[in-house]
Amino acid sequence: MIETFFVTTALPYANGPFHIGHIMEYIQADIWVRFQRMQGHRVHFVGADDAHGAPIMLKAEAEGVSPEELIARIAAGRPRYLEGFHIGFDHWHSTDSPENVALSQDVYRRLKAEGLIDSKPVEQFYDPVKGMFLADRYIKGECPKCHSKDQYGDACEVCSSVYSPTDLIEPYSTLTGAKPVLRTSDHFFFRLSEPRCVAFLHEWLGQPGHVQPQVANKAREWLSGKGDQALSDWDISRDAPYFGIPIPDAPGKYFYVWLDAPIGYLASLKSYFDSGKARANGEPRSFEAFLTDPDTRQIHFIGKDIIYFHTLFWPAMLKFAGPPYRVPDNIHVHGFITVSGEKMSKSRGTGISPLRYLEIGMNPEWLRYYIAAKLNANVEDLDFNPDDFLARINSDLIGKYVNIASRCAPFITRLFAGRLSGESHRGGRSLLSRLQSREECWSRVGLLYAEREFGKALREIGGFLDEINRYIDEHRPWDKAKVATEHHEVQQICSTALAMFWYVTVLLKPVMPETAAKVQDFLNLPDGHMAWGQHSFFPAGHIIQPYRHLMTRVDAKQLDALFELPATAGAESVPREKGASASQAAPPSPASAVPGAAKGPAAPAQAPATLSIDEFKKVDLRVARIAAAEQVAGADKLLKLTLDLGEETRTVFAGIKAAYDPAALVGRLTVMVANLAPRKMKFGISEGMVLAASGEAGGPFLLSPDSGATPGMRIS
Ligand code: MSP
Ligand code: ZN
Repeated sequence: MIETFFVTTALPYANGPFHIGHIMEYIQADIWVRFQRMQGHRVHFVGADDAHGAPIMLKAEAEGVSPEELIARIAAGRPRYLEGFHIGFDHWHSTDSPENVALSQDVYRRLKAEGLIDSKPVEQFYDPVKGMFLADRYIKGECPKCHSKDQYGDACEVCSSVYSPTDLIEPYSTLTGAKPVLRTSDHFFFRLSEPRCVAFLHEWLGQPGHVQPQVANKAREWLSGKGDQALSDWDISRDAPYFGIPIPDAPGKYFYVWLDAPIGYLASLKSYFDSGKARANGEPRSFEAFLTDPDTRQIHFIGKDIIYFHTLFWPAMLKFAGPPYRVPDNIHVHGFITVSGEKMSKSRGTGISPLRYLEIGMNPEWLRYYIAAKLNANVEDLDFNPDDFLARINSDLIGKYVNIASRCAPFITRLFAGRLSGESHRGGRSLLSRLQSREECWSRVGLLYAEREFGKALREIGGFLDEINRYIDEHRPWDKAKVATEHHEVQQICSTALAMFWYVTVLLKPVMPETAAKVQDFLNLPDGHMAWGQHSFFPAGHIIQPYRHLMTRVDAKQLDALFELPATAGAESVPREKGASASQAAPPSPASAVPGAAKGPAAPAQAPATLSIDEFKKVDLRVARIAAAEQVAGADKLLKLTLDLGEETRTVFAGIKAAYDPAALVGRLTVMVANLAPRKMKFGISEGMVLAASGEAGGPFLLSPDSGATPGMRIS
């Protein structure tokens, strides 16, 4: 049966760029969404920025901009990350939107009509200088127990005791330093402790599948209350000044950010429907009709720190607001990503900046694969360990997976002009038929993906890869290729192994969509042939492209660069100018590398005056033949060059468009740096750079070797 899903990830606060924790959550959800789509299900995958609340208001103020300007700047930075890591949201919106105002006020009115909104006076610290009530985090003072200075209003970081801000000795406002005063104001409360709410939540948590068992246990603990921590009603209002949504009929009162944030899921969905995008994605119904359909499934991916909001407040709000609102069908909770065992700190982040990862040319699909390999369906933390990352990518992805194609395809190209055998090889038939089998392969791996057991799915696939490699080793096509009478068998062995490679690529496609697209291209397969449950063999006479490397190995130097501190503070902040990046801002030097080729941001700002011969030898300079040169749609300066290095070809984007007609370049020899880390650019991956001179007299002028040099020759 074809199902329809509405899938979200938690809405990130709009006060900063994405960190690796966000990216991890999106990768998890994106893999699941891609997998479901491959099963034929309809998925609408939406996100948004969580734009409201005091921290964003105060940050904007500190920067001297309006909150709207701040959130617009943050929003403008989002696509670089999402596109960079191949995360395919159908729509991205904001909680600071007309849709969210309308929906939040509507939900509130319905809850009020249900008798679930209360109002009562609350006494709270107030900053008389700032003219604002202070959340606990904006109050500091001396710990009442151990007398450490400068402790926050809710807990002491020195002795770990928990208290309320009014217990602090000599409290002060962190915003102005003023001594806060107690003031009373009326607040609105959502009556979560009302028996109807509690009964509903017990029932909802009790139904299997809504949340993971350990999450249900945690939520039930909160629901039942323990001692002095009995379940309390939820304070949903804040007093002006506040950046948020006004509460109807209550001047000067705003919804607390956590009330309108999850409603932002629906606001984004509504904007997706109203913009016509849902229709373009095959969903002809209205937003309301879609939501009220009992067969629609509403699914939220979130991290473990926001379980309370998503398993208590959110389902209760939706339930008692009534149709078209619907309670979530699943809340999928993941653990936190740590880096080399260290927790991420809010202020320092982790050692990994997602933007830096992309800028130094690391392959986003390595990270997708690595995270998937370490994910399961439980709420467990996941560690990014650089040594483990290098080992897994190089041994599993390159050594076992890519290796199958790179070992077999060259024989097909060299001996059979790219033509595959239409007949499978006898020695490989039993493995081939297992890989084609629904029960033994597709359903098994499929079930693991569906259950978010990605690590287990990849282990299952890894088992197949081992068997395929064993099959190739056993039949040794490289030996048989030396004997003309055995060429027929070489063709069969390699064709069989490439069919296996094709199936495994389809199994990996939710995790590595771009790699799968490259394989599709290399194997010359029409679209329908990359679908789940693939089991046809190549038709007789099928011709494949010559092998071009599908993925490079991770270089330890890339990991060093990833963990280096950025040269300038704030390298991770969202660029104000679209497309600007640290590497493009590097000053040009006389015989510069052609812009657009890789330049590690780790490079020192100024080149040292001298370098040793050993340092120079690290640069692998080669003679390259320009095999093809093409315009790049949408690029002002770049040409896409295909460079022949004798034994392999490389794609390089070079900033020479203004000086060269692509047709005139084809066939000529030039010089390239062959060991630069590949770099992901807007238009594709650049795998090196060509050398050119430029200066006062113009340029760039491409270098050429004297006649006699041949592609691949080393330059020293
Ligand atoms: N704005 C709220 C969510 C509102 S949802 C209606 C919020 N934002 S957040 O930016 O702090 O976090 C967004 C998501 O990132 C959450 O699911 C959170 O759990 C997740 N992560 C934050 N740090 C993380 C890691 N270190 N690892 C994995 N996920 C982490 O909370
Ligand atoms: Zn203390």
